[in-house]
Amino acid sequence: MSALFKTEAYFRPMHEDDLDVMAAIDYAAYPFPWTRGNFGDSIASGYSCWVYQHDEFILGYAVMMLAAQEAHLLNITVAPNWQGQGKGRAFMLHLLEVARNYAAEAMFLEVRPTNTVARRLYHKLGFDHIAVRKDYYPIPNGREDAIIMRKELPHA
Ligand SMILES: CC(C)(COP(=O)(O)OP(=O)(O)OC[C@H]1O[C@@H](n2cnc3c(N)ncnc32)[C@H](O)[C@@H]1OP(=O)(O)O)[C@@H](O)C(=O)NCCC(=O)NCCS
Repeated sequence: MSALFKTEAYFRPMHEDDLDVMAAIDYAAYPFPWTRGNFGDSIASGYSCWVYQHDEFILGYAVMMLAAQEAHLLNITVAPNWQGQGKGRAFMLHLLEVARNYAAEAMFLEVRPTNTVARRLYHKLGFDHIAVRKDYYPIPNGREDAIIMRKELPHA
């Protein structure tokens, strides 16, 4: 194990204290980032808000809405310098466990057609493309569709 890291990475609930760091990571990770206020509103709304932490580093964060036996993933981000190392996959497995513990019957998410890394990850985890939301996301010169994906969460 690296001498730099004293602990394993772990998931914990998001706090107000995280807002500045998350807004900075989102700014680095997306052309159209969430603001500090978007994250604050998510916490205040009681959404399922998680931080992936390793020692003092925030590796990533996610916001999920749990309602009416459904889980809706609103944001999942791995900080750019931690991407491509299995963190996104581990985070998704954590969120699926949270959704199952809530007794959600399915998880839904939206993804840009151009986001091939995220789409591949979701597909490998069993999400199916179920619909397209036209002109959903902003892009520099207009709008881009969203692909809506769903994974059913059968319960024993
Ligand atoms: C999408 C995102 C959450 C994935 O997290 P990650 O930690 O980078 O991805 P992982 O390392 O867990 O890899 C997941 C899969 O994607 C693939 N992948 C990862 N990086 C890749 C790359 N640069 N090119 C091609 N495939 C890649 C891998 O094949 C991997 O599959 P595997 O588990 O079978 O090996 C992360 O890249 C991210 O935050 N991106 C910016 C924000 C974003 O797009 N969020 C999602 C919005 S819907």
